[in-house]
Amino acid sequence: MEIDIVFAAGELSEQKVKGRVAIAIDVLRATSVMVTALKNGAKEIIPVLSAEEAFRLKEKNPDQIILGGEREALPIDGFDYGNSPLDYTADVIRGKSLVMTTSNGTRAIKGSVTANKILIASFLNAKAIADCITKDEDIVFVCSGSNDLFTIEDSLCAGMLISRLNEKYSVRLTDGAMAMMVMYKTTKDVKKLASQGNHYKLLQKRGFYDDLDFCFVKDHINVVPFYENGSIIIKDLDT
Ligand code: MLT
Repeated sequence: MEIDIVFAAGELSEQKVKGRVAIAIDVLRATSVMVTALKNGAKEIIPVLSAEEAFRLKEKNPDQIILGGEREALPIDGFDYGNSPLDYTADVIRGKSLVMTTSNGTRAIKGSVTANKILIASFLNAKAIADCITKDEDIVFVCSGSNDLFTIEDSLCAGMLISRLNEKYSVRLTDGAMAMMVMYKTTKDVKKLASQGNHYKLLQKRGFYDDLDFCFVKDHINVVPFYENGSIIIKDLDT
């Protein structure tokens, strides 16, 4: 098993992901939303790159589709919900298709389409993701980052998963993957370190304190979402 890492959506290229399992991460907050919505019974999540595309899909099937996402961390005008995982309760999302567009997370997922398989990870479902990887797979962690820059929270989540896979299998790590594993292992308080990051501070400024607490809970949701044929669905559902 070889493990590599991409630090931000803007760094993605076909060559980076082709033939590998891509594990997309946007802790704050896109992949945390996806994991939560699917756990609460969403039928599927359709990531799109623009609000216009989202509105077009909703027009075709208004009763079935919920629109969610953000720009600059704020809800998009005309959308049903923003990008807070806590908004996507079972009452809101069960049986519905969530069409989502976010600044970085949905770009990271759609930019990974040449991978063999695309999985959606966050701290919330880290254990489920680590458990579903098999020893013969080559992995690339696709951190969404923020505005094409490295973010601490996505890289810490990747570092945690790399460290778990490294304990379980014989792995070859690229320098980037090794550095993120070491960062994770030497960090006593993951949330405290992440709170020094720019995106964390933006969400704090906007008052999303509950999201910031929720998105750093580890191994709380037992789902493995994967992206295939334009939508994200789950393999395993909490019982
Ligand atoms: C993104 O995709 O850039 C994020 O999920 C932004 C956010 O915090 O809502």
